Amino acid sequence: MVEAVEVEALSKVYKNGTKALQGMSLKAEKGRLLTVIGRNGAGKTTMVRVLTTQLVPSSGTARVLGVDVVAEPDKVKPHIALVPQEAQTNQSMSPWDYVYYLTKLEGVSSGEAKSRAIDALQQVGLESLSNKPCYSLSGGEKRRAIVAAAIASGAEVLFLDEPTTGLDPIIRRQIWLSLRKMVEKGRTIVLTTHLMEEAEMVSDRIAVVDHGSLVTSGTPSDIRSSITAKARVVLRGSHADGFESYGELVKLGDREILYLDREETANEVVSATLSKGLSAEVSPITLEDVFYKLLGGQME
Ligand SMILES: Nc1ncnc2c1ncn2[C@@H]1O[C@H](COP(=O)(O)OP(=O)(O)OP(=O)(O)O)[C@@H](O)[C@H]1O
Ligand SMILES: [Mg+2]
Repeated sequence: MVEAVEVEALSKVYKNGTKALQGMSLKAEKGRLLTVIGRNGAGKTTMVRVLTTQLVPSSGTARVLGVDVVAEPDKVKPHIALVPQEAQTNQSMSPWDYVYYLTKLEGVSSGEAKSRAIDALQQVGLESLSNKPCYSLSGGEKRRAIVAAAIASGAEVLFLDEPTTGLDPIIRRQIWLSLRKMVEKGRTIVLTTHLMEEAEMVSDRIAVVDHGSLVTSGTPSDIRSSITAKARVVLRGSHADGFESYGELVKLGDREILYLDREETANEVVSATLSKGLSAEVSPITLEDVFYKLLGGQME
């Protein structure tokens, strides 16, 4: 079966010598949402730019719907849509103009473009602002117009590079719903985000990347269980001394996170903490914890 996106041993060295991609390999299945997470500078945007035919790689291959993006970019373009990480709207255009005309450029009828634009603007909550010029909108509202244009496109594969950065939590959830609806209809989405809850909530699969290559990939629960810690306890009021034997202890000023090696010890830790007059909150390991562990944060 042809994958929606297939990246094999992809490398990119920028003119200044920066090795942004170093043998990146990953796949996105058709009709699924793949989220790529990784630290700043890990190579996410560089890979998205190669896949969307904006940047030529130094070596390796990248295919979208089975078509090589370097050899046949014009064959790829009609099937993809992109929300770039740093997109700017045309300040004098309104969200309506933006979404409607970009949809129209795909060659669809005016009626079809109109109904798609109405629907997409409603999905990002911009109905009441759709005729205001972009210069009069807030940063998040402008970002929503760009996301709406991608939602309105008929593209089979969508590349969304941090689409919800700067958006409030209410609208973000509305966009998560839109993304899941698109996937249910068979579209493929490649998303990047620094919001671990977003990755957890919308992804079918997550690819963790670092220094231009893949670290690990799997379903959100595969990724969460890829570290040995089984639960986390947040201790407030400091002074968690003596708890080191239960697992790794991360100090964050007057609060600490204790990563338990064994879930069964949670009760013991909670009673010991309460007896010291401190507060303890036990919860499952989060994707954020895994990110720290895999990519060399404070847990190392
Ligand atoms: N045009 C460019 N010229 C030279 N180096 C670049 C260029 N764009 C990016 N880089 C470098 O390439 C590496 C990868 O950058 P990229 O933008 O792909 O990272 P990213 O994973 O998208 O990061 P972020 O999470 O901050 O968006 C970084 O080291 C960056 O400094
Ligand atoms: Mg980026």
